Parts: sequence; C-alpha cells; structure tokens
Amino acid sequence: MTAVTAAPPSPNLALNQMVDRRRAAGESLVHLAFGEARLPVLPQLADRLAAGAARAAYGPVAGAEGVRDAVAGYFTRRRLPTEAGQVIVAPGSKPLLMALQLVVPGDLLLPRPAWNSYAPQAVYAGKKVFGVPIPAQCGGVPDPAALRATLRRARAAGADPRLLVLTLPDNPTGTLAPPALIRELCALARAEDLLIVSDEIYRDIVHDPAATAFLSPAEVAPERTVVTSGLSKTLGLGGWRIGVARFPAGDTGALLRDAVVAAASEIWSTLAGPMQQVAEYAYAEPPEIVARMRASARLHGAVARAVHRIAVEAGADCRAPTGGFYVYPDFAPLRGPLAARGVTDSASLAARLLDDAGLVVLGGHLLGDDPQALRFKAATSLLYGDERQQEQALRADDPTRLPHIAGELAAIARGFTRLKGAS
Ligand SMILES: Cc1ncc(COP(=O)(O)O)c(C=O)c1O
Repeated sequence: MTAVTAAPPSPNLALNQMVDRRRAAGESLVHLAFGEARLPVLPQLADRLAAGAARAAYGPVAGAEGVRDAVAGYFTRRRLPTEAGQVIVAPGSKPLLMALQLVVPGDLLLPRPAWNSYAPQAVYAGKKVFGVPIPAQCGGVPDPAALRATLRRARAAGADPRLLVLTLPDNPTGTLAPPALIRELCALARAEDLLIVSDEIYRDIVHDPAATAFLSPAEVAPERTVVTSGLSKTLGLGGWRIGVARFPAGDTGALLRDAVVAAASEIWSTLAGPMQQVAEYAYAEPPEIVARMRASARLHGAVARAVHRIAVEAGADCRAPTGGFYVYPDFAPLRGPLAARGVTDSASLAARLLDDAGLVVLGGHLLGDDPQALRFKAATSLLYGDERQQEQALRADDPTRLPHIAGELAAIARGFTRLKGAS
C-alpha cells in the first residue's frame, strides 16, 4: 500500500487537546497556547441560529445573496466599497485561506513568525514557503528590505514567490502594522507582481481604535488584495465556523473568486444555512453586536497588556500588544541564566514553563521562527474563567483585578519570574 505522508496535526489544536487531557487528570494548568476568544455566545446569535434551523438546503456555494450583501456592507463601512459579488462566505476563514493557496500559482512569502497554519497549508498546496523576518516595531508583515532580499534569493534559486500573506492585527505578536509600512509593502507588491492576502480576522479587536490607525492593503492596492476575515475571534464563535473573503473588484478579482468558488464546490460545498442566518445578522452590525465587539476588544486589550507587563518585568523583550489577544515575549536577555538551566531554544523554554510552572505556551519554532530563539506565543484569551466570570470580565472596569483573572496573572508572573533562576 502507498504510504501516506503524515504531517503532524496543527500544534495549537494538539496542545489544546493535551491541556484538556491533563486537566481531566487533575492537573492545574494555565492555558496560553490556544487563540480562542472564550466568551459567552450572545443570546441574539443563538436565537438566529435556532431561527435558521430550517435552512437545510445546500444553496449557492459562495453563500446566499442576503449574507453576502451584509458582508459587503461590513467592508464598505470600513472604507472598502464592496459588492455582494465580491464576497464568499465559508465554514471558517481557514478553508478560504487553503483554497486561495490551492488556486493561486507560485510560492508563498510569510512574515516570520506567523500564525501556524499558513505554512502547512502551503505545503499541502505544493508551494515552497519563504519566511521573512518581521520589523522590530510590529509583526504580521515582513520587513520590506528583508522581503526584497528574500525575493532576490528565492528567484535566483528557481522559486517563484507570488503570494504574500499579511496578518492585521497579527497573531502571534498582537501588534498592528502602521499605515506607512502597509503603503511600502503594497508598492513593493505592485513592483514585484505579488498577490496580497490580508488576513484581517482580528481587525475588530484593535484595543484602542481611537488611538490606532488601521490601513488595509485593500485600500492601497485594491487590484491585488484579497481580504479574509470571520466571526471566530470578534464574536467568540470559533466552533460555529463562519469565515468570509473579499475579492478585488473587476475581471482579475472575479477570476480569482470563481477559482475559489470552484475549489469550495469540491471541498465544502457551502456554509451551513443556519450559520448564514447568523452571519447575515452579525455582519449587519446592529447595536448589540457593536457593543459586544467593543466590550470584548477592551477586555482582550486589558488582559494582553497585563501579560505584556509581566513578561517585561520578568526580563523579556516584548512588543506592546495593540490588537488581538496575544503577546510574543523574547527571553534573549536571560539567555545566560537560562542556558545554565538547560534552556537553550524555544522548545526547551516552552517545556520548562510547562514542567516548572504549569504554563502552556506555543514555542516560536512552531510559528516558523528561529528555533534557537527564546521566544513563544502566549494567547491571553482563555484567562477569563467560566461563563459567569466571562460576563463579569466583559463588564468590569478593570478585568485584571477580578480575583479569578488576577489569580491566573499571578501564576503567569510566578512562572515567568522563575525563568530568571531565582528559585
Ligand atoms: C491569523 C488567523 N487567521 C485565521 C484563523 C482561522 O480562523 P477561522 O478558520 O476560525 O476563521 C485564525 C485562528 O486561529 C488566526 O489566528
């Protein structure tokens, strides 16, 4: 029998299952390895889901007109004028990203580090992956000079990089690339004829929208940017699997959209009817949805900033988080004391945090980063307690002072501080 190539399962999902198993066996762990926005489902969303139960027919592959219209409205309100025909809805943005990688020819350029699924998807699509270091100021985008150098090297080696993925705001660094950098990268994409996939699934989780300018590459290079997004993060609906993609207007955009629809028709057929009902309601952004999005962005920001403070106090370098629910500390300043205790790379650092302090983090090597670096991702969105405590956290002026969250933060502080070798 032909042997199958057994790629490992996605590391964040694998760690999540490990945590469930060890907790069931009675262990106390602080789970910082899974980017799930664990918040209660807004009752109005559950009502829409129930009301959509009779929508059991397949329907159009790209999604019904009503939901695509609502999604077009969402983008149009964000300075991206959009027609329903430019939109596809799908069971999560992950399959949309996979379909894009399948239909767009050429190899993939990725910021380094990046969310852990882009690179394995590229491998499934038969692409080579070129990781490009991120700038000192933020993640989610490659440093432009390093991108130019990588393009030269890749082409000289016979590769054909055509696709550039940007994550705005970023998972894993929790930062947002500023407009000037987006403009520079868009100019470069034009000069080098790259298609940009702008993953904007965290767009509505900018912690302080009044103080943070968001510029989508689709505003600057509309002819060559596909935007993906979804409701997994903003409304905490990861398991409901609602994702969207917005394609460029015009003939080239339509060709690309048709290619993704064709792939979708062979893989997932369509987004489940009841979920389309939910998405149509949510993307129209009635006041209760807007209020929930604001409250959760505020909560995510408060807790991510607290974990950032803890990391810096423990001696790490760390970009200050401004979006999403992640921090990405670099413990390079403690390399000496860590090496003395057998911690020499991101895998041994993550293992030490788990064994010594019960902290579960995702080592940077699992995100395409240099395995020798002492970096990891800490997702801060699973620290909000049970459902009643999550409601409390959403309403609190300072959620980090709620006893259940303060307790988790204290455990993180103890774990990070131990890395200095004090105890
Ligand atoms: C950057 C990024 N993009 C895409 C996704 C996929 O989300 P979904 O498939 O639930 O839309 C995630 C989820 O972790 C993510 O962090």
